[in-house]
Amino acid sequence: MKLGTLVLSLLATLFTVHGYHAEDPWPEAQKLLNNSIKRSDPIISSSNAFLFDYEIEENHLYIPADYSVEREELNYAQYWDSQATEWARVIYKFLTESSDHFNNPNATYVLAQMHLWSDYGIPHNKSLAYKYLNKYNELTNFSDASALFDLAVMHCTGFFGTIPVDPVKGLLFYQKSASLGDIRAKQALAYRYFAGINVPRDCNRALLLYREVADEVRNSYTDDQWNIMFPYVESYSVRIPDFSEGLLGRTLSSMALSTKRMATARPDITSSFLTKMNGGHVVLQFGLGNGGGGAFAPNTDEDNDDRLVDIFFTAWDDYKGTYAKGRNCERARRLLEFAYKEYDSELSILDDIQRFFYGKCLDLLGHLYFTGEGLDSPNIELAEKYLKRSDKVIESSQARSRSNIDLGIIQQFYYKNDTAAIRYYKRIVDSKTNNGIVHFQLANLTKKYPHLKLGDPFALMHTAYLRGYVPAIYEYARMTEQGINKRYNCEDTAYLFKSFIEEDEVVVAPHLKTAYAELLKGNSEVALWAYAQAAEQGIETALVSAAYLLYQLPYNFEEPQKTLPERMMMAIVYYTRAFKQDNLDAGVVAGDIYYLAGNYTSALSMYQSASLKFAPQAIWDLGYMYEHGLGVDKDFHLAKRYYDQVLEHNPKLYFAVKLSVWKLKLKSWLAWITAGKVSGWRKDDEHTVKNSAQPWYKQIVKSFQKAGRENSGGVSEDLRYSQHQQPQHREQHQRQQQQHQTAFSSIWERIESLGLQMEDLISIAFVLLIFLFSLAIRIIAARRGWNLNDMRFQVNGIGGNFEFQVIAI
Ligand SMILES: *[C@@H]1O[C@H](CO)[C@@H](O)[C@H](O)[C@H]1NC(C)=O
Ligand SMILES: *[C@@H]1O[C@H](CO)[C@@H](O)[C@H](O)[C@H]1NC(C)=O
Ligand SMILES: *[C@@H]1O[C@H](CO)[C@@H](O)[C@H](O)[C@H]1NC(C)=O
Ligand SMILES: *[C@@H]1O[C@H](CO)[C@@H](O)[C@H](O)[C@H]1NC(C)=O
Ligand SMILES: *[C@@H]1O[C@H](CO)[C@@H](O)[C@H](O)[C@H]1NC(C)=O
Ligand SMILES: *[C@@H]1O[C@H](CO)[C@@H](O)[C@H](O)[C@H]1NC(C)=O
Ligand SMILES: *[C@@H]1O[C@H](CO)[C@@H](O)[C@H](O)[C@H]1NC(C)=O
Repeated sequence: MKLGTLVLSLLATLFTVHGYHAEDPWPEAQKLLNNSIKRSDPIISSSNAFLFDYEIEENHLYIPADYSVEREELNYAQYWDSQATEWARVIYKFLTESSDHFNNPNATYVLAQMHLWSDYGIPHNKSLAYKYLNKYNELTNFSDASALFDLAVMHCTGFFGTIPVDPVKGLLFYQKSASLGDIRAKQALAYRYFAGINVPRDCNRALLLYREVADEVRNSYTDDQWNIMFPYVESYSVRIPDFSEGLLGRTLSSMALSTKRMATARPDITSSFLTKMNGGHVVLQFGLGNGGGGAFAPNTDEDNDDRLVDIFFTAWDDYKGTYAKGRNCERARRLLEFAYKEYDSELSILDDIQRFFYGKCLDLLGHLYFTGEGLDSPNIELAEKYLKRSDKVIESSQARSRSNIDLGIIQQFYYKNDTAAIRYYKRIVDSKTNNGIVHFQLANLTKKYPHLKLGDPFALMHTAYLRGYVPAIYEYARMTEQGINKRYNCEDTAYLFKSFIEEDEVVVAPHLKTAYAELLKGNSEVALWAYAQAAEQGIETALVSAAYLLYQLPYNFEEPQKTLPERMMMAIVYYTRAFKQDNLDAGVVAGDIYYLAGNYTSALSMYQSASLKFAPQAIWDLGYMYEHGLGVDKDFHLAKRYYDQVLEHNPKLYFAVKLSVWKLKLKSWLAWITAGKVSGWRKDDEHTVKNSAQPWYKQIVKSFQKAGRENSGGVSEDLRYSQHQQPQHREQHQRQQQQHQTAFSSIWERIESLGLQMEDLISIAFVLLIFLFSLAIRIIAARRGWNLNDMRFQVNGIGGNFEFQVIAI
């Protein structure tokens, strides 16, 4: 160590004459760089260690709350003051000398990437990244496609407050980069024409570009991969808020979660049975933190009824790879082989569920041998053996094994026996386990055997696409492009190619994985850069993720986030673009951010657009805006209409809506009685509303969600916080705690902070009275057998929501 440092300093002095190098130190720098690691990858993959450790939890991402330039600068200065290693100092000196004094493009490029991606541990620094990237592009006469794309992203986003937003320059660089062949730039350009961003909408141009990219993506696969079986993709195309409960929380979100590869949540088990495997080196443990996790004590006479279920899901997690752990097909295979050895002879004594999961185990095992994943090469004979066995085992429980798909494909492509293949396909074609591949194959076979009447190739391909089989999206797009359904439509075709491209993130957006990995490491600004690239490419999940890193809606009682206005603007832009790609929640959030900023006109129009797509939350917000006259004239009738409409779309909110409407009626009644004097004794209405961070009912809903989340997080969460002592996260944590305390300090403050006024409280009292009264009536009615249809309370549908809905009013 000492010696290394000495040599480094010697090198540094040797090359320095009169304060700067006499010769370009780039070759030396290159040598140093060659021997070091650019970036560590926190996502564990293919390690052969047979220990399942859940130290990294996939939903434990570091997302700092506030952003301030001063803190970033402080961190940056601190790094060079105290944390930087000798190696980092020397290499940095070499590189800056080489770039600043010798205009070496290579050193300049390394510096730019270093500051963008935090390579070699050098911290992210936006102004330096821009400086060096710009310089590199000038040095290379704007001829490097990839660097041009980076520069374009910077200009289009203003690099989040670093430089002015300049869409014209951005567009120019995208065009230049695309003409030099950068696939991301082509995609970004296509998206701009497709959605009409900074350019007039031009579907034909978008289609042309999307088509070009799609062909490129298609050609990155071999014909075998394409025609026989498409390789598995470990997708990182997720929205960050989905790692908790979605953008608006569980109750209010209209979007399905995008996190499809979360680790399977199974109850804690520590099975001594499984430790037999591999000489006692296996410790199986699911879902640490679901309660008494961490109990490693082996339970010697374990006789868990769910053992096969556990084996299957463990292997399945290894096969599919979870967000934090990566795939490990070899480990999956060994576990499954073990299950085969242990259980195959005991089949007759297994109950139905065990038998079913045993069949699934064999199916997965056969699939692994068939694809050769985690092996040197596929082994068709073994694959067939397991797949057939799986079919037999599962058939006895009156279901169909997915293995029929693989068996069909083996017949079709290995034995070239189409008749046998079709027989297998027909058995499985309608099953839910068919991901569309069967329709895809049948679409081809039906052309070969028209007399078998397997179906219309176009319709089959359409189904394959709807079921999500990736090559089918492309083939179907080609078919529509050629007008096979005689209804060629540019928009639809472009949309199909766009969807196909976005499924192939390995080719077009490997940075999505980097983004997630950087979030795990706590480098949220690096993650933002990666998500921003993908967002510029038009990928909906990345738009939301980037926007979320830029600006999150505050939880109840929290101050709105402190950040640069430029970042807030960009967040709105990205949320809005996501909304235009049918993410309703994003539309509501964009509206809410406008609302927070006091821009009621824009908030209203955002809510209006979202309500046209039937987002219940947006409809409610509209009602609220009309009730309080924010951005529009007060209109109680319209407000009521909107509140009622919410009910049509989300019956779960029955009580909240009904009571809101009653309150509204009361309010208009009061207004009538006092002949407008009401506005006199509520002069501070606007003011209060503006001050409260959000509509009060939403605050309450959020506070419930927050409480729920904190409870479930429990102690382990706190422990983890103290383990990873990232300064900004501790800060966030403390802030949360503080807010917690103040929040509970006084009920009155709390009520005030909700933006409630005297008038509201009176209304609430009335409403509660009416409510209790009607409840009493109802009970009496029930006893006496009256039929009060009008007052029917849907107690069933309401369940857990009931309480908070009452309070919410
Ligand atoms: C650094 O490594 C690359 C290959 O990884 C090699 O081409 C290059 O010559 C090496 N440079 C030096 C200076 O060792
Ligand atoms: C970036 O680097 C420059 C030059 O060293 C420094 O002045 C600035 O504070 C840094 N900015 C951030 C945000 O770290
Ligand atoms: C920069 O690297 C490229 C290859 O990556 C090489 O061809 C070129 O000569 C290098 N330029 C300088 C100035 O070292
Ligand atoms: C860039 O262009 C200038 C003249 O336009 C030329 O002298 C220079 O060699 C070019 N540099 C590169 C790297 O192509
Ligand atoms: C194809 O498979 C079927 C059923 O498995 C079998 O009867 C037939 O002989 C096979 N044909 C050929 C050419 O192998
Ligand atoms: C059917 O698939 C084969 C490859 O398996 C391919 O060569 C052929 O072109 C396809 N036929 C049609 C009509 O799509
Ligand atoms: C509201 O936002 C829109 C769109 O960003 C902007 O054009 C308008 O000036 C804003 N209005 C106010 C009052 O800030």
